[in-house]
Amino acid sequence: MPDGYDATMASWRRDPEAYWRLAAQDIAWSAPPQRIFDAAQGPYGRWFPDARLNMCHNAVDRHVAAGRGAQAALIWDSPISGGQRRITYAELQDATARLAGALAARGVGAGDRVIIYMPMVPEAVMAMLACARLGAVHSVVFGGFAAAELSARIADAEPKAVIAASCGLEPGRIVKYKPLLDAAIALSPHKPDCCLILQRDAWRCELEPGRDEDLLDAMAAAEPHPCVDRAATDPLYILYTSGTTGKPKGVLRDTGGYAVALHHSMSLLYGLRAGDVSWTASDVGWVVGHSYIAYGPLLAGCTSVVYEGKPVGTPDAGAFWRVCAEHGVKVLFTAPTALRAIKKEDPEGQQLRRHDLSKLEALFLAGERCDPDTAVWATRLLDRPVIDHWWQTETGWCITGNFRGAGLFPARPGSGGKPAPGYDVQALGDAGQPVPAGQSGSLAIRLPLPPGCAPTLFRADDRFRDAYLAAFPGWYNTGDAGIIDAEGYAWVMSRTDDIINVAGHRLSTGQMEEVLASHRDVAECAVVGVKDALKGQVPLGLVVLKSGAGRDEAALEAELVALVRERIGPVAAFKAARVVPRLPKTRSGKILRATLRKLADGEQPVVPPTIDDPMILDEIGAVLGIR
Ligand code: COA
Ligand code: AMP
Repeated sequence: MPDGYDATMASWRRDPEAYWRLAAQDIAWSAPPQRIFDAAQGPYGRWFPDARLNMCHNAVDRHVAAGRGAQAALIWDSPISGGQRRITYAELQDATARLAGALAARGVGAGDRVIIYMPMVPEAVMAMLACARLGAVHSVVFGGFAAAELSARIADAEPKAVIAASCGLEPGRIVKYKPLLDAAIALSPHKPDCCLILQRDAWRCELEPGRDEDLLDAMAAAEPHPCVDRAATDPLYILYTSGTTGKPKGVLRDTGGYAVALHHSMSLLYGLRAGDVSWTASDVGWVVGHSYIAYGPLLAGCTSVVYEGKPVGTPDAGAFWRVCAEHGVKVLFTAPTALRAIKKEDPEGQQLRRHDLSKLEALFLAGERCDPDTAVWATRLLDRPVIDHWWQTETGWCITGNFRGAGLFPARPGSGGKPAPGYDVQALGDAGQPVPAGQSGSLAIRLPLPPGCAPTLFRADDRFRDAYLAAFPGWYNTGDAGIIDAEGYAWVMSRTDDIINVAGHRLSTGQMEEVLASHRDVAECAVVGVKDALKGQVPLGLVVLKSGAGRDEAALEAELVALVRERIGPVAAFKAARVVPRLPKTRSGKILRATLRKLADGEQPVVPPTIDDPMILDEIGAVLGIR
């Protein structure tokens, strides 16, 4: 790899296929790629179309074969349960082989889907790897979703099996996963053949005879299963993410391109090597968890920390620094919201100074834009590079960032850095032409997307084309808006659709509106993201009552909050609904959501000339107590 960011980008630009051919040499293929890219396959092309490999072999078995069997592959640290475990590569190989064997004995084979619904326990990573070993396609569902959301994913993915835990642990409460799973299966037209359940000490659940089995018993009794040879273009997983409608998008990930991109990013971006300890404080239910709790660190032979806890309250704002010190973490990756939570409780870093952070070299942030205040605060406190990098579920790894393996360029707080090799990112005007440097536009990536990015959506090529490729022919539309400045730094400022970002979680306001609109007393509604000092944004629902509903407003508002929690889940953090007399609309009947958002943020909105009734803004302002 050439030295320096500019040289690296120049080498990729000069010959993209040669760049990825070289990066592909770090992967153990059963059939190495002869062709690097085939533009004729899929909505925009496929990477490594003739190559073959197994992901679990690359992430686990080959390290054991190379003598790393005794090294920790995973360190589980759970301040919330008081547990800690160290799992070596040899132990991980045995566990994944047995779990793959247990799945195979229950009829799961290559190409079959498996839903994983688990908290932050090592078995979640084992389950992912076991699927990869078999060639089964996993779909991990985040624990903070409600039964209806889990059900929608079961209905869409049609899994043969589900691997779940009896419960998850949140501060002060046990989240009983098994009843949620039972309710989700009951709601879904598709039923899995079997459910393997990890019984946790905090709460053991009933198992349904004929369908449910104890996961650990099944693993203990299983024959270890070898790695199954797969095409590089075979799917590794589906990860559902919020689209602009209530139906979640099944983002599909291939195997070979993902392995190449992640392995490459471990050294180029994070500056990590085999034997290093990497900690991504996120959740396996999100893309960040897939890429940098599970696959990335293991592909590179690192030790990955699996943390079941929070940045604050488990037990205090020193939790992250304690974990870094105790396990010798070299690179920490988390969401800005977690840092803001720490900053609020420990602004001067007293907790931080209690811990030996001599091994920590850098902090990476993603999930939402890091506000400059928090970036400056963290840099001052840690006296190490604090790197905001921009990415999406669809891309699987960063679009822009700063590259420890190529020598860092100076950070600009508030910017997500410069493009990674593989990405030609531009801000486009409405007509699809790049705007001059420094001007705002729709952020788009010139096709093809690099290896690692979603080749399509699960069973939905047309939806992929409509959602991402239709707006600007020849480009992938990220859905984010922002600026590329004269030096090439990207400033990712907002979404161009109705997606909001709450505590680093991507949520659809359209989906919340569908839930509110389903309430019998609601005539119409709008959900907007309002600025929040901790979570970045939080949703606010504004509803208009049906005439004659005659409801006590406070009671109705509480019902609406409960309804969103029941249908979407606690992760929506939907805590505020207000009854308003009318919604502001254009004369053609379109709800003025941007105007509402400004109003709710306490800003003076520019009254659009197309508004049908300017007085309504004062009335809504009065309801919100800001006018
Ligand atoms: N299972 C079940 N419920 C969960 C859950 C899980 N895995 N994760 C979160 N929840 C619940 C929380 O308990 C909370 O419920 P509540 O309304 O009853 O309090 C709700 O979902 C909202 O969670 P969240 O928005 O994450 O807030 P929080 O109050 O739990 O924690 C922070 C606040 C700032 C500490 C937290 O948001 C945080 O650290 N976020 C990190 C974000 C992140 O990792 N993003 C991934 C992209 S990198
Ligand atoms: P998700 O698919 O859940 O990872 O969410 C992706 C979205 O989160 C992006 O499209 C952005 O809107 C936002 N996002 C993620 N990381 C960043 C970042 N570093 N800077 C700005 N926005 C970000």
